[in-house]
Amino acid sequence: MARPTRLVLWTSTMSIFLFILLRLFEVFKSQQPYQATLFTSLVSQKKETFSVTDEKTQEIHIAAIICGNRTTLGLTMMKSALIMCSNFIRFTLFVDSETSVILSETIQLWPDNILKRMSLDTHPVSYPEKNADEWKTIFKPCASVRLFLPNLLKEVDSVLYLDADTVFLDSPLRIWQHLSKMNDTQLVAAGPEKYDYTNGWYAKFARHPYYGKFGVNSGVMLMNLTKMRQFGWEKYVVSVFEQYKTRIVYADQDLINSIFHFHPEKLYVYPCNYNYIPTHCSVTSLCREAEQQGIYILHGYGNAFINDHLPALKAIYTSIQQHSFGDTLQMLFVNMKKNLMKTPPSSCSKVMSSILKLLMVT
Ligand SMILES: *[C@@H]1O[C@H](CO)[C@@H](O)[C@H](O)[C@H]1NC(C)=O
Ligand SMILES: *[C@@H]1O[C@H](CO)[C@@H](O)[C@H](O)[C@H]1NC(C)=O
Ligand SMILES: *[C@@H]1O[C@H](CO)[C@@H](O)[C@H](O)[C@H]1NC(C)=O
Repeated sequence: MARPTRLVLWTSTMSIFLFILLRLFEVFKSQQPYQATLFTSLVSQKKETFSVTDEKTQEIHIAAIICGNRTTLGLTMMKSALIMCSNFIRFTLFVDSETSVILSETIQLWPDNILKRMSLDTHPVSYPEKNADEWKTIFKPCASVRLFLPNLLKEVDSVLYLDADTVFLDSPLRIWQHLSKMNDTQLVAAGPEKYDYTNGWYAKFARHPYYGKFGVNSGVMLMNLTKMRQFGWEKYVVSVFEQYKTRIVYADQDLINSIFHFHPEKLYVYPCNYNYIPTHCSVTSLCREAEQQGIYILHGYGNAFINDHLPALKAIYTSIQQHSFGDTLQMLFVNMKKNLMKTPPSSCSKVMSSILKLLMVT
């Protein structure tokens, strides 16, 4: 064998050996729960380069709570955010130990060009130190972290809070830009729960005060944490809880609705296509903005992405879940259309087809 070839062979063998060694080391490291530092070392950390004038350099900060068997949902939400824009995204996740391991193992396999424009900060689900014992007796661990984000993330100015069962169908900038549209009084932005008296849950059943005529959904919220801290948010959570604890059903969402019932001027409500929930199409199409402009964030609450009650929503979610970072967006939309065509005709499938038309998938 010629010398240069031998050299090449020797070098490649050594590289493969080194590669395997490094991989083993990473796998070993990822076995340890709650290793926030693991993520931060894997994922490059870009520091604040925030410019309101330049959309492309605007950094988006997403906060979510991922517990129990919802890791796949959470990972799909993160993936959708990353493929729908080219901005840098900071993820702050509150996770249980089981989720933490699967999350780190999956994310470290994501391609470098994706890891380069995200950072990941994980925290075990927790309560603010003050009153921790009291909160523990009142709320289940994962259900209520969002109520305490202003105190749990003291250093952070603003976040987009998302339930794990959400996916972006357009750039996260669409919603992020509403932060700067909130006036000085408004602390939080949320989408409407439902628009009609006959089926709206709050109008029909709620026995506690709620926002407006139909209430808001707390699954997709822009939170200016600075303003929430200045307002004394936690104090209000305690007070409405004390007053209505026997009447609330969806603990944290009900408390948020109660607070904004008494302070409506502090809530900014964006249109229904920013948090498109299953009830917007389950019976008939109730969100005109979705058909006209598309859906920016689809929210599969009530396990709509998992069970088979609304196959059209599941088809959209499944297409994103199966999407690889290397594939193009056009491939994703074509796949959505294919999956959608396999579902029976329904009000939701009509709306989902209309949003694909907007994306010019023919
Ligand atoms: C998680 O588990 C619950 C209860 O076992 C089940 O109802 C739900 O569908 C599961 N969710 C997912 C995402 O697998
Ligand atoms: C949040 O509110 C604070 C206090 O009013 C303000 O300084 C900050 O710019 C706001 N953040 C965003 C992203 O608009
Ligand atoms: C912000 O908007 C709300 C709702 O329109 C309004 O009630 C409030 O007075 C406004 N605040 C300021 C400072 O303009």
